[in-house]
Amino acid sequence: MRQFTSKQDFCDWLNQFEHPSLASDWASAANIISVEASGFKVSIPFAAKGLVEDLASWISTQQAAGDVASFACEIEVAPKTLETNVAAQVKGVKNIIAVTSAKGGVGKSTTSVNLALAIAQSGARVGLLDADIYGPSVPIMLGQQNAQPEVRDNKWMQPIASHGIYTHSIGYLVSKDEAAIWRGPMAAKALAQLLNETEWPELDYLIIDMPPGTGDIQLTLAQQVPVTGAVIVTTPQDLALADARKGAAMFNKVEVPVVGVVENMSYHICSHCGGKEHIFGAGGAEKMSQEYGLDLLAQIPLHIEMREDIDKGCPTVVARPESEHTHQYLALAEAVCSRLYWHGKTKPDSIQFTMVE
Ligand SMILES: Nc1ncnc2c1ncn2[C@@H]1O[C@H](COP(=O)(O)OP(=O)(O)OP(=O)(O)O)[C@@H](O)[C@H]1O
Ligand SMILES: [Mg+2]
Repeated sequence: MRQFTSKQDFCDWLNQFEHPSLASDWASAANIISVEASGFKVSIPFAAKGLVEDLASWISTQQAAGDVASFACEIEVAPKTLETNVAAQVKGVKNIIAVTSAKGGVGKSTTSVNLALAIAQSGARVGLLDADIYGPSVPIMLGQQNAQPEVRDNKWMQPIASHGIYTHSIGYLVSKDEAAIWRGPMAAKALAQLLNETEWPELDYLIIDMPPGTGDIQLTLAQQVPVTGAVIVTTPQDLALADARKGAAMFNKVEVPVVGVVENMSYHICSHCGGKEHIFGAGGAEKMSQEYGLDLLAQIPLHIEMREDIDKGCPTVVARPESEHTHQYLALAEAVCSRLYWHGKTKPDSIQFTMVE
């Protein structure tokens, strides 16, 4: 039976645990293993619910089999700050993830909201900024359409807390009609204020729901906001894919790495018979991902429940925590956060960021 006499010994043993979200020799990376009075502590440096569960069950199986002597071990999620290409940082925010697509209506906001909630359920502190100045949807999707942020010292706006995440949106401040008449520079200024004049609590991840398109506003945003990585949302249709390529290229222009692609409305699940149909075609995002060397991070179905949940202000990840959809969003959260972390470090071949031509 193996006994652990040192931290190194424990690291060597843990390195035998292999997982798609981990690099080889992962346990040897700095600050992952520590020795506390109560036993060993494993600090996973990114949000990952599935990984934490898999690791805990691997450890208990090994202990139950009598391969290792009994020991106490705590596993925690402790996301790290990652470097970006942009010098300015947002106070208190460790990582910024932009959810984008050049085309409207493909499900950016639905993806942003469920992804933010899934990352929060994975043990991280999460914020969500609705950057869609002309068509904010986060307040309604979170059931907060009547919320109004408080302002401290005439300057600092307090984010609206909802379902465990901290949010801000122009929709909390002005009516849709009012924002609709703003010109580009004014909209960009409003957004910079939302980002920098909000008193965000300490956040591991801030998700930004980007406005559709690749025009001036989007480009300014991509340039001014210190984005750690971008996630591209598309549907399987050719038209949406063509726009998704433009979205990826825009981030490339400003040297923000693209984490991968989410195919939303990938297939339709009938709420009566459970049958699966590829109503927008099949394989589109996979082909695009291969063409550009991007990872296809998730294929989320079109399902009436998801639309109903979000219209009621209680997104599926909160409304149906045990559902297949929630598991898909949790897996997406882990795929995004693990890729962000391993970027620029010793990483498994499967985890790579891509710059799109
Ligand atoms: N996977 C899905 N299943 C069912 N309905 C969905 C799904 N994804 C999005 N929808 C619905 O499709 C509509 C458009 O989605 P959403 O608002 O998220 O798109 P968007 O890309 O943010 O749009 P915009 O470009 O206007 O900001 C919404 O009514 C939403 O509820
Ligand atoms: Mg939207």
